[in-house]
Amino acid sequence: MSAKLIDGKALSDSVKAEVAERVLALKKRGIVPGLAVVLVGSDPASQVYVRNKAAACEKAGLHSRVIRLAADITEPELLNTVHELNNDDAVHGILVQLPLPAHMNANKVIEAIAASKDVDGFHISNAGLLMTGQPLFRPCTPYGVMKMLESENIVLRGAEAVVVGASNIVGKPMAMLLLAAGATVTLCNSKTRDLGAQTRRADVLVVATGKPKMIDGDMIKPGAVVIDVGINRGADGKLVGDVDFQSAQAVAGAITPVPGGVGPMTIAMLLVNTLEAAERSAASSVTEH
Ligand code: GUN
Repeated sequence: MSAKLIDGKALSDSVKAEVAERVLALKKRGIVPGLAVVLVGSDPASQVYVRNKAAACEKAGLHSRVIRLAADITEPELLNTVHELNNDDAVHGILVQLPLPAHMNANKVIEAIAASKDVDGFHISNAGLLMTGQPLFRPCTPYGVMKMLESENIVLRGAEAVVVGASNIVGKPMAMLLLAAGATVTLCNSKTRDLGAQTRRADVLVVATGKPKMIDGDMIKPGAVVIDVGINRGADGKLVGDVDFQSAQAVAGAITPVPGGVGPMTIAMLLVNTLEAAERSAASSVTEH
């Protein structure tokens, strides 16, 4: 058996095209959706991500502003920048690129972002809304995974979903979204005993560990849907996922490639979140006036 490839690039293109249409509709009402991305320091991977986010915004007609700050900026200075963006009506979404330098408390910085502009969905208020079934912003990567599952017509109601990796950015919100869709969810972490026994039960397996090729074909149930969130650079410079693609695709029913799988979806959903923040702010200003 050879698994069906789930093409994140093609799906992200169609999501971005739909965003561009809705942006045009907002522009006709005089509103240009705006995203501010704050990058502290010069981490090479973060620089690439930020450049890609800004380019995707421009292409879909959103306004993007990248604020680059030196690695040795103080936490109060960064908080000040966030407050200014909170009060800027041209900015509908604010994203502070992680990781932050070690002398900063990332939680404190995230909590300083206005929840209504938190397009990453990382603010505790947005995490709480997601957990209680009233999401405002869904974190972009898990949101993109849900879009992929939906586009493939994967039935989640009653399905066994196993998520490997319990980060605040991917694993935990992923588990919440799958749960809300009716799946029975197992959330595994680095201490999970006999990981294979868990992953082999999965109808839908989502892997987000940051450990190259840690899941192989022997750990996958035949016919399962395998979503690989990992993007790791191998010694040869090539990108590899957290799943060993060769052995996995021989067992799985459907699988996301790396690159060209989840990665492009994350950016597409950031555009969706920013657009929706702008649409909500337009709707609330209509009611206020
Ligand atoms: N660093 C890695 N992924 C992300 C993300 O989705 N958002 C932010 N802000 N930083 C990240």
